[in-house]
Amino acid sequence: MNNKWNPASWRDKPVLQVPSYPDQDALAQAEERIGEWPPLVFAGEARALRQSLAEVCEGRAFLLQGGDCAESFAEHGADNIRDFFRVFLQMSIVLTFGASKPVVKVGRIAGQFAKPRSSDNETQGNLTLPSYRGDIINGIEFNAASRVPDPERLKMAYRQSAATLNLLRAFAQGGYANLENVHQWMLGFVKGSPQAARYEEVAERISDSMALMRAIGITAENNPRLRETPFYTSHEALLLGYEQALTRTDSTTGDWYATSGHMVWIGDRTRQPDHAHVEFCRGINNPIGLKCGPSLDPAELVRLTEILNPENVPGRITLIARFGHTKVEQYLPKLIRAIEQAGRKVIWSCDPMHGNTISANGYKTRPFHQVLTEVERFFAVHHAEGTHPGGIHVEMTGKDVTECTGGAHAIREEDLSDRYHTHCDPRLNADQAVELSFKVAELLKNGRETEPENQVVNG
Ligand code: PEP
Ligand code: CO
Repeated sequence: MNNKWNPASWRDKPVLQVPSYPDQDALAQAEERIGEWPPLVFAGEARALRQSLAEVCEGRAFLLQGGDCAESFAEHGADNIRDFFRVFLQMSIVLTFGASKPVVKVGRIAGQFAKPRSSDNETQGNLTLPSYRGDIINGIEFNAASRVPDPERLKMAYRQSAATLNLLRAFAQGGYANLENVHQWMLGFVKGSPQAARYEEVAERISDSMALMRAIGITAENNPRLRETPFYTSHEALLLGYEQALTRTDSTTGDWYATSGHMVWIGDRTRQPDHAHVEFCRGINNPIGLKCGPSLDPAELVRLTEILNPENVPGRITLIARFGHTKVEQYLPKLIRAIEQAGRKVIWSCDPMHGNTISANGYKTRPFHQVLTEVERFFAVHHAEGTHPGGIHVEMTGKDVTECTGGAHAIREEDLSDRYHTHCDPRLNADQAVELSFKVAELLKNGRETEPENQVVNG
């Protein structure tokens, strides 16, 4: 392999999942313009995330990554961002309780626009058009004009990401995330939700601990850790022209960073070792995710970790396992063993969404019980292999949508049409997301009780 990397070196490699822009000059102009715009995130922040992920890698912290499958221009608004952030905080509180470890919070947000598709075209009736590839590329409306890739959309996606990130930073650092607000974060729950009752219990315990800390002089006013929370952004680095335009050198270290988000990942369809997406990601210093599906060969996985992380830095690579509930026990152990044998430092995170998608009543959906089953099996495999289940990666929203069946409200296939809003894959709604967190918290707690360092030695 030619080792010379630069932000454009991916252009000499084979590339999959590229939109065909009819006007290449307009595309080049849009990319050039974005290349002059300010970075969305700073290198120092990406480094801080890498350090927190190193803690996850060593089993001392847990990763929560989640958000929309695809952000959309139509759903961009303050309420959606607030509702997402609130559920994300609820999930992370529940997980912190289960794990008794810090939870590293990474949203699929403020840049998660471009989508890989299994087919280049979509047919409805007797009309065939190019597939929708995410709002950063073309429009979801099924007509010829909207499906044409439009370079102006790159600029709109950049501006939306900037506005979203601005509000998220305000929420994370401006007081909203203050632990004294745990009861206020309840407001989003649907009345009577079983998760609300369970969450209230956790919130009570936190309030009691806060009262105790206040009594001994530790308050949100004098301790920033109680009133602020680090929150990071991530997305799939799929549209490489956009990523390249936002790739900058860090003035303090001289290293390259993607400044479109703190962490980026490589999708299951674009992870060929000698192709463009891997080439681009190997040269940036951000934490990198790599989706691992059933078609990934163990030796190839080891090779990918060597290409992407030659110095074997902990926290650099997160392997996001997405096999499906019936396949995870068959495929995951081989990958874990290959990684362990090669001594590669990785985080193992579970994406229980992408291997469990089915069609029902004309909608793409995911049965919630299968999502839970994949997570349980992921934990069991790690337990058996003696490795750390390091995180979860989910598609979720703060809204009360009906996109995945099941959960405490028992959404049925015939309910899917009620509030089915996603632009791509079905997301967990707020209740299902918190229910999943309780499940993971339980699994983490059980794991904690059986870890050797936590066992009480008698005599
Ligand atoms: C996704 O995360 O939205 C996605 C497309 O996942 P995968 O690459 O694992 O199919
Ligand atoms: Co998806």
